Amino acid sequence: MTTETPTASRRRASFHSLAVSEVRRLTEDAIEVTFAVPAELAGQYDYLPGQYVALRTTLPDESGEPHEVRRSYSICAEPRSFGDGSSEIRVAIKKDLGGIFSTWANAELKAGDTLDVMSPQGAFISKHGKDGSTVQHNVMNSMNHPEELAGDAGSFVAIAAGSGITPVIAIARTLLAANPETRFDLIYANKAAMDVMFLEELADLKDKYPSRLALHHVLSREQRIAPLMTGRIDSEKLQALLSSAIHAEDIDEWFLCGPFELVQLCRDTLAARGVAPEHVRFELFTTGRPDRPEGNAGRPVIADESEDTFKITFKLDGLTGDVASPTHARESILNAALRVRPDVPFACAGGVCGTCRAKVVSGTVTMDENYALEQDELDKGYVLTCQAHPTSENVTLDFDV
Ligand code: FES
Repeated sequence: MTTETPTASRRRASFHSLAVSEVRRLTEDAIEVTFAVPAELAGQYDYLPGQYVALRTTLPDESGEPHEVRRSYSICAEPRSFGDGSSEIRVAIKKDLGGIFSTWANAELKAGDTLDVMSPQGAFISKHGKDGSTVQHNVMNSMNHPEELAGDAGSFVAIAAGSGITPVIAIARTLLAANPETRFDLIYANKAAMDVMFLEELADLKDKYPSRLALHHVLSREQRIAPLMTGRIDSEKLQALLSSAIHAEDIDEWFLCGPFELVQLCRDTLAARGVAPEHVRFELFTTGRPDRPEGNAGRPVIADESEDTFKITFKLDGLTGDVASPTHARESILNAALRVRPDVPFACAGGVCGTCRAKVVSGTVTMDENYALEQDELDKGYVLTCQAHPTSENVTLDFDV
């Protein structure tokens, strides 16, 4: 956790075995999985819309040997509890190309199965509070307070691609229900109509809030009547969408969720249009590098207390924080650090731009690729955190030098 994490009671991230109560097909390659949360565990599984859970199971690897697999998936429904104190967690699992877990889940997972589910985590949440204030939710391994979401009316925009809709639909449902004046614009990019997850649910939401929810489906491989809604979202299209599809002048919060390239394009474009970074929340679903192992991708992995971890300590803008990174995950230092400080600087995530540079103060790391640092910087101990992985149990870095 970082030293600036807000105060509230803390909850340890822990796994419990939960039963699957329903598996519902969303598209040809995506399912919605509902886990039943018994009343005695409900307090462990309350969450804020936009958060995610890690799922853990054992599957055969390529050689047929059992192998622990864990993946994190966003929660796609607004928080709810039942009369007997029980609750539920719903996640959407889209089949990734070559993804062991997602392929298995799409083919095999059924009601009655059990999986290990970690308590909800994540900072991709609304911070829009009462009187327009910013709510400092306690989001890392902590107790959550869904009742804090009944903030003032606001104007919100989400830009999502593919399975990036999963946390966004939970956020949209909750914010629209929380205040009758709230407006929500959703730009949702997919290849084709058949790939659109939650198509019916989004249509139902639009029926429920016809004047307050604006849906903009953009399809890259299918012709739509409006040319603006056809084709890949590049810089030009994004500018046009922001200028013509988004009507509100002052947006309280922006939610960006999808692959690295789209999220980064949106962040850069919003920054160039004068949007302050504190109004922008984002979450990466992949780094767009299919050649990399899944644990190395942009979506955060989570450590529990029972496993071997690297401890990464880092200084950024004068604040010192630390984060545990499971040794098996081989995630980059950047990805681990983003879990506790979304403001850690990065741009390309490919070892090219040097934005994520930090100096190793103690411990050792190894780097995959380096197209940015000169030899004299390497000699001084600088590394690209998007390419760096710890090789010592403890590693300390400084982003400020
Ligand atoms: S973010 Fe560009 S080199 Fe790391």
